[in-house]
Amino acid sequence: MRIAIIYATTEGQTLKIARRTAELCQAAGYEAELLNAVAVPADFIMAPYEAAVLLSSVHVGHYQAAMSTFLNDYKDDLTAIPNAFISVSLSAASTDQDDVDGLREVTDDFYKQTGFTPLYEHLAAGAFRFTRYDFFKRWAMKLIAAQKGIDADTSKDLELTDWPALDAFVKDFLAAVARTSDAA
Ligand SMILES: Cc1cc2nc3c(=O)[nH]c(=O)nc-3n(C[C@H](O)[C@H](O)[C@H](O)COP(=O)(O)O)c2cc1C
Repeated sequence: MRIAIIYATTEGQTLKIARRTAELCQAAGYEAELLNAVAVPADFIMAPYEAAVLLSSVHVGHYQAAMSTFLNDYKDDLTAIPNAFISVSLSAASTDQDDVDGLREVTDDFYKQTGFTPLYEHLAAGAFRFTRYDFFKRWAMKLIAAQKGIDADTSKDLELTDWPALDAFVKDFLAAVARTSDAA
C-alpha cells in the first residue's frame, strides 16, 4: 500500500515533520512517498496511492501557494481516499485565544479557497528557524518570540513541535486507513 506525503515548506520544519510522518507510515508497513508541492511532475497522478497526507506551513497568515495549486489540481482524487492535512505554524503552540482563533480562520479560509476540506486535521507547532532567516526576518522573529515571553538565542533554532502529539495523530490516521482498506 502506498501513501503520498505532499508537503510545502519555507524554512524546512514542515519537511522535517513530513519525514517523520513518512517514517511512521513505513514502520506501519506502508510505502511512503514524499513529494514537494513546488516540484510536482506534470504527469503526477494520485491513482497509485491509497491514502494521502498533506502538510503546509503558515507565513503571514497564508499557507504556501504551491499547496493551494496542488489542492486545486488534485482535490477530487484526494477526497476519494483517506486524507489528512497537517498544518504547521507558531500559533499552534499558543494558548492565546487570538492566536487560536486566527489559526482557525486562516485554515478555514484555505479550505474554502481550495475547495478541499481534509478528513483528518492536525495543527502542529513549528519552529523558529533563526539559522535560516536573513537579518530582517531574524530580527522580526526574535521580536515575535519576545512578545510570547521567549528570550530566544538567535544563533540556534528553537523547535516547538510536539513530536509525541504528531506521532499519535499519524498513528490514528494509519489506523483509519487500515479500517478503510479492510472494509473495501
Ligand atoms: C516570515 C514568517 C511569517 C510567519 N507568519 C506566521 C503566521 O502568520 N502565523 C503563524 O502561526 N506562524 C507564522 N510563522 C511561523 C511559521 O509557521 C513556523 O516558523 C513554521 O515552523 C514554518 O514552517 P516551515 O519551516 O516549514 O516553513 C511565520 C514565520 C515566518 C518566518
